[in-house]
Amino acid sequence: MMMKKQFCTKIWMLAIATFCILQTNGQAKFDTTAKIAALISKLTLEEKVKMIHASSSFTSGGVPRLGIPELVTSDGPHGVRPEHGRDWVLDNNSLDSGTYLPVGVCLAATWNPQLGYDFGSVLGSEAAFRGKNVILGPGINIIRSPLNGRNFEYESEDPFLVSKMCVGYIKGVQDQGVSACVKHYLANNQESKRFTINVEMSERALREIYMPGFKAAVQEGGVNTLMSSYNKFRGQWVSHSNYLLNQVLKKEWGFKGLVMSDWDAVHNTAQAFWNGMDLEMGTDLGMLPNPDYGKFKLGDTVAALIKANKLPEYLLDEKVRRILYVMFKTGMIDGQAKKGEYNTKAHQQTALKVAEEGIVLLKNENNILPLNKNIKSIAVIGFNADRKQSMGGGSSQVRAFYEITPLAGLKNIAGNKIKINYAQGYNIVRGAGPDQKLIDEAVAAASKSDVVVFVGGWTHGYNYSVWSDNAYDAEDIDKADMNMPFGQDELIKAVQKANPKTVVVLMGGGAIDMTQWVDKTPAIIQSWYAGLEGGNALAKIIFGEVNPSGKLPMTFPKKLQDNPSFVLGEYPGDTSKTLNVHYLDDIYVGYRYYDTYKVEPQFAFGHGLSYTTFDYSDLKITQAGNTALVTFTLKNTGKVPGAEIAELYIHQQKALLPRPEKELKGFQKITLSPGEQKTVSITLSEDAFKYFNDVKNNWVMDNGAFDILVGGSSRSIKLKSTINL
Ligand code: GLC
Repeated sequence: MMMKKQFCTKIWMLAIATFCILQTNGQAKFDTTAKIAALISKLTLEEKVKMIHASSSFTSGGVPRLGIPELVTSDGPHGVRPEHGRDWVLDNNSLDSGTYLPVGVCLAATWNPQLGYDFGSVLGSEAAFRGKNVILGPGINIIRSPLNGRNFEYESEDPFLVSKMCVGYIKGVQDQGVSACVKHYLANNQESKRFTINVEMSERALREIYMPGFKAAVQEGGVNTLMSSYNKFRGQWVSHSNYLLNQVLKKEWGFKGLVMSDWDAVHNTAQAFWNGMDLEMGTDLGMLPNPDYGKFKLGDTVAALIKANKLPEYLLDEKVRRILYVMFKTGMIDGQAKKGEYNTKAHQQTALKVAEEGIVLLKNENNILPLNKNIKSIAVIGFNADRKQSMGGGSSQVRAFYEITPLAGLKNIAGNKIKINYAQGYNIVRGAGPDQKLIDEAVAAASKSDVVVFVGGWTHGYNYSVWSDNAYDAEDIDKADMNMPFGQDELIKAVQKANPKTVVVLMGGGAIDMTQWVDKTPAIIQSWYAGLEGGNALAKIIFGEVNPSGKLPMTFPKKLQDNPSFVLGEYPGDTSKTLNVHYLDDIYVGYRYYDTYKVEPQFAFGHGLSYTTFDYSDLKITQAGNTALVTFTLKNTGKVPGAEIAELYIHQQKALLPRPEKELKGFQKITLSPGEQKTVSITLSEDAFKYFNDVKNNWVMDNGAFDILVGGSSRSIKLKSTINL
């Protein structure tokens, strides 16, 4: 009897507690919903229309009468952009030099979601300090071809890695009281004719490759805003795509925030209004120098059409509701908008850490690296060694508070003990061939030095104000090929002849054709554009103060002709004739292609070396229904501490529909001291085994045998086991 009574009491207490909890959270949500509804009921038609389009280059309309502020947005994904005046002129007098973080691909190369959060925190804090409510990042478009000029801003060829890295970033930004804006949704995987191309792809490619990052941003990251891309998708502008915006994003995924257009990406009032566009930005670009913000597609015309009963006011209210939802979420209304900090040491340390963990050691023969500190001299060769990159690249430009170049970083470590002989080696002039005088100077420096560190690769816009001038990694321009520009191949070969101990450091947003010199080069480092502390991070890695742990977030093919968008698909499409680009490479993007079609890459997806070695052993898989707990032992078998990114792929032995050779479904970054070992465990939910069956139009898991593959890269599998589902 007593037991029963006690039991009942406990149940009652649990019920009351649950009701209270629901009440509190529910109450808060109820309050906001009620407040938003109350505000909407007070807004006039004209005031509502003002809110759904821009009020200047980077703001959208507010209603001071009701305490609704303008929404202030700013680029970009790796730092708060320099201030613009209303008519889009860079305001060079602003004190707007901030923390220039490493670019997106460098962050992705860390394979460290926690660092993604820290990165987002810095960005959100500096945006808050600069009075921004929305930071226009992360950019997460899939890296389909190495030629896309904006790859540097993005993350990976693999949707799982994109999902894991963007969620941390978004949460980091939004915990600072600023909204992130995941972009560019979607299929914006080239810059050639980006404003006009129409992308065609299968539902499988859409669901398995191009959507997962955005879905994770919404459902796991809780992103407040999303930016629609310039291009068309299946014949309709993405900014007016009922399928992409209403059906999938808002209805299927439950996105509660606002959809804003890319700048000047809205083309039609009724279609944008009906098909899910909430906030039209950038149409003033076509109206400069005296823009009339009422003339936006979602401007005065909307008010007139509603008055004429040609458009429903409830849809206008829905757009305003989403905008107000974001304002409440960021404390712009009824909250304490956070102050934020700017150019702090802590922010700079985060930038350094991302660079240290994102720079990738691609090759290190006979352990030429790390360099020994009692060498007498180093020849540092290459324009990129002494070049500031932060203001290049386009809308993601950042006026850096400072920028440590590779040369400065090496000088910081060399001090007065190691002599640095610098030679520029080449000029940055688009299409320019080698300059014999510069090559001679470089050869002379190499001949008289113990070691050579060559720093070259791609580059951002040369002339700071014109981002695509001479640029190879920039918005609005694609690379014509993967060939090294500025005569660098000849230079490298000449320098290597003079001194075989040549370390090649490549900057840029992705792969470059190394075939002319890769076999003769003992060490190669990929250093991306690594932010304002990039030079220090690179130098610390070269001298072993930091043990590199970065891994490639995209495949480096030997040559462009090996790339699937080139072999199977269209890139950038024959834009002289039709503007249709068919993604016939389909789901075979990146390593999903190279591994399935047995094409040897220069360096594989997930590849990166360390100054220590790791051993994988003891793979165990515990199955529970259709989920699997995968454990294995990882041991540091070398002499220095280091971090290993252990990667887990699945392979379906008998696929009913074609599937790639392998798919990344888990990873962990583990730090180990020499001799230390740890048990790593990764859980695979049923979803990990599914693929999108576009015959059934749904995600399905076929019963049967799956291989579980574990290793240090997509092509260095160390452990393998098979399970039956
Ligand atoms: C640009 C870019 C977008 C940027 C926006 C505002 O065209 O595509 O990424 O955020 O316009 O500058």
